[in-house]
Amino acid sequence: MNYIGSKYSLIDFLEESINKTLKLCGEDRKPSEMVFADLFAGTGVVSGSFKKQGYSIIANDIQYYSYVITKHMIENNGNLDKKHCNELIDELNSLVGIEGFIYKNYSFEGTVEQEFRRMYFSEHNAKKCDAIRITIEEWLVNGKINENEYFFLLGSLINSIDKCANTASVYGAFLKKLKKSALKEMELSPLPIMQGSVECRVYNEDINELIKKVSGDILYLDPPYNARQYCSNYHLLETIAKYDNPEIKGKTGLRNYEEQKSVFCMKNKVEDAFADLIKNAKFKYIFLSYNNEGLMSFDTIEKIMKKYGKYKVYMQQYRRFKADNARDCKSDSTIEYLHCLIKE
Ligand SMILES: C[S@@+](CC[C@H](N)C(=O)[O-])C[C@H]1O[C@@H](n2cnc3c(N)ncnc32)[C@H](O)[C@@H]1O
Repeated sequence: MNYIGSKYSLIDFLEESINKTLKLCGEDRKPSEMVFADLFAGTGVVSGSFKKQGYSIIANDIQYYSYVITKHMIENNGNLDKKHCNELIDELNSLVGIEGFIYKNYSFEGTVEQEFRRMYFSEHNAKKCDAIRITIEEWLVNGKINENEYFFLLGSLINSIDKCANTASVYGAFLKKLKKSALKEMELSPLPIMQGSVECRVYNEDINELIKKVSGDILYLDPPYNARQYCSNYHLLETIAKYDNPEIKGKTGLRNYEEQKSVFCMKNKVEDAFADLIKNAKFKYIFLSYNNEGLMSFDTIEKIMKKYGKYKVYMQQYRRFKADNARDCKSDSTIEYLHCLIKE
């Protein structure tokens, strides 16, 4: 998924820096003996890569679509029968489309009688999304699938429909004409099933609450860097994941997101929230990803982290996140920092 702040292309840098720190500290436990927490998990790509190494994982995100995808990637292991999963995917792919919530509110044809016409998905893909989403829920209720299969199928739907969205990249706006990838008929593709530790747990909470309840060895923090709220930029994925027929508003059909607004996107609140997080963290090794254009300055982060133990920083030049339309950016790259604290 083309996700704001995704660490997909920084995984090697993160793994190398984290492993180097553990080595420098003389850490001699094996990954299978340690707990790695990724509490701003997003697409789950960082948790996934440490799960592969054998760590027990704790993952979390305030957004429900992220919880769904990560719940599958992190908690599902050999408990899923791959052949059966593929049969379920085939069955869902052969469904006839339904004029459901997504079609009626987010396709051009479905919004014909509404105040605002929207074009987030083609008519075909919106109807297919509704049919698949409704069927996955029915299958869970009537016992055809279990919870593990439910998150596998729902995560696969979120990932597949996102590829057909008629947006520049996020859901803050839609394009006026269906672009090539949005015109393509959506094919439900299965998310991979990843083997790893069975001791993994995924949460859907505000991090400043969760941090008081969990503990472990390595804490990886990847908060939003700027004022762009994930709840509004990915509102449609949230609605597909929850499928809760929300009241929606305006040109873009936004759901109410007051309760999911992140203080890490607010200049006047982020420092206190971050300081609170570091203070309450019951982890020996703490890593924070942040860049040189974030709401908190380098010096502020250093000052907050240094209070609790030994501090170090790694850095890497990074290509800026871009929508696929032309934007006038200041420069094409930013400096990505990995701040590191060995808590004493
Ligand atoms: C930079 S993204 C993480 C990207 C992720 N590392 C990846 O590679 O996909 C930040 C994430 O933090 C989540 N988030 C923001 N505020 C939060 C909060 N207070 N508690 C939990 N998660 C939060 C957002 O929903 C978003 O998914």
